[in-house]
Amino acid sequence: MKKFYITTAIDYANGKPHLGHAYEKVLTDVIARSRRMMGEDVHFLTGLDEHGQKVQQTAQQRGIEPIELCDEASGDFRGLCRDLEISNDDFIRTTEDRHKKVVRRLLQKLYDEGRIYKAEYTGYYSARIEQFLRERDQVDGEWPAEYGEVVEITESNYFFKLGQYQDWLVEFLNGNPDFIFPRFRGKQVLEFLKEPLNDLCISRPAERLSWGIPLPFDEDYVTYVWFDALVNYVSAVGWGEERFESYWPADFHVIGKDILVPPHAVYWPIMLKAAGIPLPKSLLVHGWWLKSGRKMAKSTGNVVDPLDLIGHFGPDAFRYFVTREMNVGQDSDFSLELFMSRYKSDLANDLGNLVSRALNMIGRYCEGTVPAASLEEEPEKELRALWEETRKSSAELYADMQFHVALEKTFAFIRAINRYAEIRAPWKLAKSDDDADRKRLETALATLAEGVRLSVVLLKPVMPGTAERVYRLLGLTEVREWERDLEWASILEGKKVSAPEILFPRPKTEGAPE
Ligand code: ME8
Ligand code: MG
Repeated sequence: MKKFYITTAIDYANGKPHLGHAYEKVLTDVIARSRRMMGEDVHFLTGLDEHGQKVQQTAQQRGIEPIELCDEASGDFRGLCRDLEISNDDFIRTTEDRHKKVVRRLLQKLYDEGRIYKAEYTGYYSARIEQFLRERDQVDGEWPAEYGEVVEITESNYFFKLGQYQDWLVEFLNGNPDFIFPRFRGKQVLEFLKEPLNDLCISRPAERLSWGIPLPFDEDYVTYVWFDALVNYVSAVGWGEERFESYWPADFHVIGKDILVPPHAVYWPIMLKAAGIPLPKSLLVHGWWLKSGRKMAKSTGNVVDPLDLIGHFGPDAFRYFVTREMNVGQDSDFSLELFMSRYKSDLANDLGNLVSRALNMIGRYCEGTVPAASLEEEPEKELRALWEETRKSSAELYADMQFHVALEKTFAFIRAINRYAEIRAPWKLAKSDDDADRKRLETALATLAEGVRLSVVLLKPVMPGTAERVYRLLGLTEVREWERDLEWASILEGKKVSAPEILFPRPKTEGAPE
């Protein structure tokens, strides 16, 4: 069976993980986990982009070797994945042999087939983005600050014949409007392709930049970072080996909007086409997390440390917040006030209280054993109908990448269970001697428990730890697959539940944001 292969961008090794990195991993993980719940055999790759001028410079400034800097970053970014409970199957570092070997094999192939040539070149180079700029990247005759220092340089270099694939790429994009999600980003690529495409300089003289992969056909040069980094998607799954076929083409490359044009939408498809490798099925392009309207990034200094938030509130609260607040493809403004309000109202109040209420009442009125639901009256019918609606629309929303709306619906269902508890008022029914009331009471408790169970099954891709924890509190073992576990059923009947635990406590740590 072909794997469902999904990747994130590989993060630059010269900075610390920030909210943008954390978000991209959570988004990709939500898709990976939901696909596993749908029964797919998922392979999820993330990793670190370790070569290039910035890593070399940063290491120099700190008086350490580039690889030491990368080892440190690898620890940080792997730590981020662990703390966020990211379910990646692999983590690639571009300094690994398995990667360098494939980059060199690809370059040699393209060189042998005449796709790469040597020429002299003069251009404006930005070390910050490690790219030559075009005159029209200037604004009012100045280079925008985002490029950092821009210098004019002349050097002999190797070039990849990008330009000759322009017409092919335009045709491909026009014929495959779903290649890029959301669609409006595809239009931006076509807009970019209205200008003639220059060939791509794919080498850097080793004397200027030594921290890179040497060209296999000329060791005086190292490979340009993008020609190195993009290849991670195929090197990690063994391009050239038999196993490659069961992974490739990738189903999704998840990336941020800043690296769509030109790297992922122009360089990468053309590199693959030139090498005779099929294209990935789609690029999922997310927007940016902003803080007061500006991109959150190391270079602008306005970063939120995701590790602080995870430390105080746990991985699931963080995962919930970023998935709930971001409409995939758009930008979103981060605010601690909003984070706290979601934490308190959605998680602690709606979900957390519901779970402890249900467990408490089963303990108090049924000795901790989930009773049978023997009645179905109006309140049960309504809740069940809402569940069927929630379940159906969630499947569609997941397919359409509308995770924030799926969460909105799931929490609407959770609030409806809370309302159901108010309507049935088990604490009143428990005082009655009437047989019918005893049945109503038992039905109410069974329905509450089942509602909780279904909600957490639906939440599992976003809040895996919470889902498993609640499952255990309910006396079950493990959430497995949606097809079966999302069925309104009576599998809880007769299960011994645990005493309630506080799922989303008020932050205790000193200095925690209020
Ligand atoms: O671009 N909000 O690495 P990177 C959302 N190494 N996403 C953000 C963000 C923000 N504020 N800031 C960054 C690179 N990202 C290359 C990629 S892939 C073959 C090589 C996203 O560390 C960004 O869009 O600068 C990208 O997808 C990822 O974080 C890594 O960014
Ligand atoms: Mg960046």
